[in-house]
Amino acid sequence: LNKKRIAYFHFTKEDTEARLAPGDELRLRLNSSAYADLSGSDEAGWSAVGHVSKITANEEVALELRGGQQLGPWDINHGFQVEFVWKSTSFDRMQAAMRTFAVDDTSVSGYLYHKLLGHDVEPQTIRSTVPKHFTAPNLPQLNHSQVYAVRKALSNPLCLIQGPPGTGKTVTSATIVYHLTRQNQGQVLVCAPSNIAVDQLAEKLHKTGLKVVRLSAKSREAVASSVDFLTLHHQVRHLDTPDHQELQKLMALKDELGELSHVDEKKFKQLQNSTERELLTAADVICTTCVGAGDPRLQNFRFKQVLVDESTQAAEPECLIPIMMGAKQMVLVGDHCQLGPVIMCKKAAKAGLHQSLFERLIFLGVRPVRLEVQYRMHPCLSEFPSQSFYDGSLQNGVTLNERLYAGIEFPWPRPDMPMFFLNSTGAEEISASGTSYLNRTEATNIEKLVTYFLKSGVKPYQVGIITPYEGQRAYICAVLQRQTTFSHKAYEEIEVASVDSFQGREKDFILLSCVRSNQNQGIGFLNDPRRLNVALTRAKYGLIICGNAKAKILKAL
Ligand SMILES: Nc1ncnc2c1ncn2[C@@H]1O[C@H](COP(=O)(O)OP(=O)(O)OP(=O)(O)O)[C@@H](O)[C@H]1O
Ligand SMILES: [Mg+2]
Repeated sequence: LNKKRIAYFHFTKEDTEARLAPGDELRLRLNSSAYADLSGSDEAGWSAVGHVSKITANEEVALELRGGQQLGPWDINHGFQVEFVWKSTSFDRMQAAMRTFAVDDTSVSGYLYHKLLGHDVEPQTIRSTVPKHFTAPNLPQLNHSQVYAVRKALSNPLCLIQGPPGTGKTVTSATIVYHLTRQNQGQVLVCAPSNIAVDQLAEKLHKTGLKVVRLSAKSREAVASSVDFLTLHHQVRHLDTPDHQELQKLMALKDELGELSHVDEKKFKQLQNSTERELLTAADVICTTCVGAGDPRLQNFRFKQVLVDESTQAAEPECLIPIMMGAKQMVLVGDHCQLGPVIMCKKAAKAGLHQSLFERLIFLGVRPVRLEVQYRMHPCLSEFPSQSFYDGSLQNGVTLNERLYAGIEFPWPRPDMPMFFLNSTGAEEISASGTSYLNRTEATNIEKLVTYFLKSGVKPYQVGIITPYEGQRAYICAVLQRQTTFSHKAYEEIEVASVDSFQGREKDFILLSCVRSNQNQGIGFLNDPRRLNVALTRAKYGLIICGNAKAKILKAL
């Protein structure tokens, strides 16, 4: 529509080797002879850079090419090469944060500086207004340990909050931020390593009535999220005041023509920058990923109060980015028994990059506030994770009755225990891309279960399907799309995602497809206890695991 060119192709790399995600930058190349044949000249080949705009149900990657593409090999469909465009942005920002920490003594308060380096330092407290009511508007009523966490976070310059899945870390974080904004210390910066975790928090903060801006990377602006309406680019686009009419006009023109004249483009950029700045300045809270905190658009902003959720999923230098913007008071929230940072380089991991700042601070003797009562899972679902991953310390804040889903007829083997393992010996196969795995029998079983749920009155948004393999994820989507028992839209609305992208989230019913089915090699990805922990702790009312009971680790279940 806006004259953008999109290239579709299959990406053939092992899941374990490299994964593409929306927003990744790639260069598409066609060598000179192929292009010369086409264009009748001997130009030095053709290439264009773009970003992954989506990955379709049959694992096809859509690459949106950048800039107005006039000439190109549009009719050729083979012989292309795809390369990763090495973007050092994340690493540059991490390095900049460390440099700032080393040389700039206004980067963090003196107290935090010493704490981060593990020096002995006199304990400090922060004078804060103690709220009359700890529970924030439209968030659940806090329990004692959650209130204690809020108190501690408000009155201390450094606070760590630790807790197993579902113990309300994110709810408590949102409540803390709500109260921090009332301390007259300026805007609060709220971060997490992953986009999904940031969205999760942004949504909760918005519910409390705070003015929230979700800043996302430019390359991700086209990627849909649950909090689109909070994103900076969305807010800029829909700012319908008389002051912003010129910007609106230029945007409409740009959409229509695909690009603007040189003069208009300059004007557009200028208006866009000033509007962005205006919106950012007016916010109570700015939410972005840790790396996003290094965005040039936040360059002149300072944040005395910073909260990082899922901080155990961030590498230490990553976590330092938001902190090095003037922090006096920082709150780190996390769980070291869920997924940690992904460090591709073994050498770097071994040298310590795999350890999060949160974990290091605990080793240094900082005592975290512990949350141990979970409000997500039916008690029968929390038992195994509690025993296996948390030494039995996880308690239930929800009762059996609160987690019995009334009004649906589902044949759980035991009505009081909404879970089961569906055994199948269907074979695992290599997926379409040639590099991931899928399991047709499991996918069919999953589809039957989904249809059964829908028939018994469960709504599509209540169901989540988790699988560790991209091949299976795509295959399940395709199988669901072929179904006709319910509308196309109903099946489409059911979220099918990887374990990693479900960290921090929950659904009423979860179906887990383990995929691997062989007696020797175990179950691949789920072998990591932290990934298994995340996979098993997303469901509120019911969990069904599809797998081959003979596969190694599943025997434990
Ligand atoms: N005090 C509470 N009372 C009632 N419900 C609560 C309470 N605290 C949290 N919850 C509910 O429990 C569920 C899990 O909360 P939340 O997502 O904050 O947990 P979490 O510790 O962040 O989990 P994860 O480790 O998976 O990120 C949510 O549905 C939330 O609304
Ligand atoms: Mg959470």
